[in-house]
Amino acid sequence: MLQKLTLPLPDDFHIHLRQGNDLANYAKRAAEQFGRVLAMPNTEPPIDSAEAAKQYKKEILAAAPNLDVLLTFKLSKNYTEQELLEMQKNGVVAAKYYPFGVTTNSQDGVSQIEDIYPTITLIEKLDLVLSLHGEEPDAFCLDREREFLKHLEKLSKEFPNLRIVLEHVSTAEAVKCIAGLPQNIAATITVHHLILTLDDVIGASLKQQNFCKPLPNSPRDREAVRQAAFSGNKKFFLGTDSAPHSLEKKECLGGAAGIYSAPVAIPILIEEFEKENKLDLLPNFIAGFGADFYKIPRQTEAVEYIKTEWQVPKTMDGAVPLRAGETLKWQK
Ligand code: NCD
Ligand code: ZN
Repeated sequence: MLQKLTLPLPDDFHIHLRQGNDLANYAKRAAEQFGRVLAMPNTEPPIDSAEAAKQYKKEILAAAPNLDVLLTFKLSKNYTEQELLEMQKNGVVAAKYYPFGVTTNSQDGVSQIEDIYPTITLIEKLDLVLSLHGEEPDAFCLDREREFLKHLEKLSKEFPNLRIVLEHVSTAEAVKCIAGLPQNIAATITVHHLILTLDDVIGASLKQQNFCKPLPNSPRDREAVRQAAFSGNKKFFLGTDSAPHSLEKKECLGGAAGIYSAPVAIPILIEEFEKENKLDLLPNFIAGFGADFYKIPRQTEAVEYIKTEWQVPKTMDGAVPLRAGETLKWQK
């Protein structure tokens, strides 16, 4: 039986590191697990300028000096080419699109994606990546991603050279859509969408800690996401969408959406890939395809994991991690 596993130092192409006092803890925790992260811009205030990007990177590096930090900015309005160039110079590699009101801190999101087509034209020209929170806000909650796919297909036609990532893909229809679109359209997969369905949120009792956007969906959808992750198709790579909120902010009236998965993401992935006899595909999923898509060098450093059971703490950094209190099989 396999007792040791050497993997390339993982990349996380979708993580929330937050701001203020929380940032240092979350950044340090991310650096324990990942060599490189793409930090999301839905902080308060948002990352929406070169100055903000520069400052954010500085704060992350102050807490986690060895973390390779890639940045995103929030597409809440149209930007000039000069503004985009300045951001690019400061480590921004992707523009993040949030539809209005669809998830945490998206009250400044865009109502009509066509409203920002001028900026998307520039994003394509500068070869930045367009990163999509792909949910149609007015659709039924379990169909929001499915209903968004028409926008993705339209974007793909109208901007044929634009690299687009559909983030946290969660439905069978989205997996099929991504697989069928050209090579410049990819998707990230979270750890939680590989293991949870809506039953884990509201099935037996209400589990606020598993509440996130897009919602964990049906068993059929989860199976499709799993098949995508275990397919070896380079269009699908890891973006954990680790999105910590304090226990108080999750377990209250109007609890926040987001799952804190960074501390457990890789151990869970090893377990899941091992279960499916697909461990040979894990290195590309966590440290290959994403880098290739973002046109950055692959990680060269390696990390060793050992099969030793450990119990996930009930809380970490003031938040409840995914699978809190449960036993995981692998650790660093
Ligand atoms: C994220 C957060 O908390 O910032 N929440 C979530 O449920 N995934 C935002 C996001 O990526 O949608
Ligand atoms: Zn996210």
